[in-house]
Amino acid sequence: MRGWPTSLPGTPRTPDPEVHRFVAACVAASHGDVGGAIAAVVHRVAAARHVEVELIVDGVVVDAADSVLEAGAGSVCAGPWGPWLPGFVREALQPSDAQRVLGVHHTPPRIVGDILDLLEQTTGPIADCASVLDPAVGGGAFLLAAAERMRGDRIDVAERFWAVDLDPVALGTAHAALSLWAGGSVPSDRFVVGDFLAATTAARLPERVDLVVGNPPFLSQLKGPTARSSDARAALRRRWPDVGGYVDDAAAFLLAGAELLASDGAMVLVQPDSILAASDAAAVRARLQTVAPLRGLWVDENRSFAASVDTVAIVAAPGDTSPVQVGRGAAVEPSAGSWGHLLAAARGVPIIATPSGTPTLAEIADVTAGFRDQYYGLVDAVVDDADGDHRLITVGLIDPLHNGWGERPARFAKQRFRHPSVDLGRVDPAVRDWIRARLVPKVLVASQTKVLEAIVDEVGSAVPSVPVVSVEPRPDAPSLWHLAALLTSPVATTLAVLDAAGSAMSADAIRVSAPRLARLPLPGDRRAWDEAAIAAHRGDIDECGWAMLRAHGLGHRCDVFEFWRSRIPS
Ligand SMILES: C[S@@+](CC[C@H](N)C(=O)[O-])C[C@H]1O[C@@H](n2cnc3c(N)ncnc32)[C@H](O)[C@@H]1O
Repeated sequence: MRGWPTSLPGTPRTPDPEVHRFVAACVAASHGDVGGAIAAVVHRVAAARHVEVELIVDGVVVDAADSVLEAGAGSVCAGPWGPWLPGFVREALQPSDAQRVLGVHHTPPRIVGDILDLLEQTTGPIADCASVLDPAVGGGAFLLAAAERMRGDRIDVAERFWAVDLDPVALGTAHAALSLWAGGSVPSDRFVVGDFLAATTAARLPERVDLVVGNPPFLSQLKGPTARSSDARAALRRRWPDVGGYVDDAAAFLLAGAELLASDGAMVLVQPDSILAASDAAAVRARLQTVAPLRGLWVDENRSFAASVDTVAIVAAPGDTSPVQVGRGAAVEPSAGSWGHLLAAARGVPIIATPSGTPTLAEIADVTAGFRDQYYGLVDAVVDDADGDHRLITVGLIDPLHNGWGERPARFAKQRFRHPSVDLGRVDPAVRDWIRARLVPKVLVASQTKVLEAIVDEVGSAVPSVPVVSVEPRPDAPSLWHLAALLTSPVATTLAVLDAAGSAMSADAIRVSAPRLARLPLPGDRRAWDEAAIAAHRGDIDECGWAMLRAHGLGHRCDVFEFWRSRIPS
């Protein structure tokens, strides 16, 4: 081993204000001459570091813009951010059109660092990688950060990199950035201008690489200027018949990158979080699992990119499947189909497996909710009547094991009622039978709440307002309080949140649907379930929660209890 140490421990992860000032001054002095401005920055950084590097675009050296050369002094050029400056200026000078059409949203250095940390933690150090490819290199953020972690003489390290970009200026910028980092111009034949997904580009890349890194464009293929040509679509369909030609660019990069990996290689690519759970990405997930299974997941909690999309980074590597490292947390078993539960795990939702083959709520109760007709059918029938026989129960009146009817007003059909009651004689005849069928002892469950909230209607006189779900026990079912405990339990809420994450819905407010509730598993420990039912009858939520955990064989899962408890409104 010659030359420089591996990563520079002192390299900061977030540019300081001086860097921002420098970039802003260059942009202001550029007068729209993007190439000239980047060339000027390359020139200034090269001069500050006493090296010879130029901006070369399509084989031609670009002249530096004089106005940018003269713009303010910049000690930052000699500092650790020097090689990054051309890319920062390229990004700042992108017209908004390019952001939309090419998906140009550079990755902030801190994020690149976090993503490479996860990659190394999951698949091992990259210090000795012999070949690294960024298939959408932009200004070279991933190249620079990866180079910092590699062992060897800087020029040798720089020569291990391959890069692709559709935009020749981007490629020239990344090449100049890596050359500035290496301390001398590196050969440019590994910087390929082209569409990474096109066969002509693939022909100019090595057959296999050790590492694929980057942040590919997130371009929708459904409409507008970002849709690919019909020829390109047909080519992708031929390449991946199971995935089809309309696959998003980011997902297609993932598949194409995976196919380039050496058998002991690894890949990390930024992706929109829809890749994890969207049903139209299911074929991409399935294919990736066969070529290079998911190993790690980084989740951007802070919307760090300029794009208005929630992002993740996928670490994948060939070989057998293994537990997936989720951020800095625990490793989680992958599941076939959706990876939404991994996203949930990254957001602090405890993982519990949905038991298969156990009896469900559907076997002991009918689970029903009304729709539009049932809602409108009640509009003329709700009156304010403290002595009404049939109380209307809206979502807002339901708390965990507590019915707020009469204690606080409720809203129904844009009106406020102190004691909302249903006059059965005024119900729309079209839904009267449905309403009457609800007049049985039951448990009512709210929707759009942070935990599942259920109350018991022992008499069977309450009318559920849409979208309240009615759970009506069959004759051989355990008591109503058993059902209420089952629905109130930490397990029911956690499974509902995991389920929501699996279908890419917000896990913040659980949208309760009758079919989903009907799938709730019944607990195996009847004695603990009895204790939970007694606690539910007393209104003791905590005791009910613990007993239900025991009933499900999860009495040791304090994390599940804490997660559920922290979501209950005070
Ligand atoms: C999101 S930027 C990422 C830049 C860089 N990797 C980073 O993280 O800062 C995406 C880059 O992909 C390039 N690009 C868009 N479509 C491409 C394609 N089909 N093949 C290769 N590059 C593409 C754009 O020009 C842009 O520079």
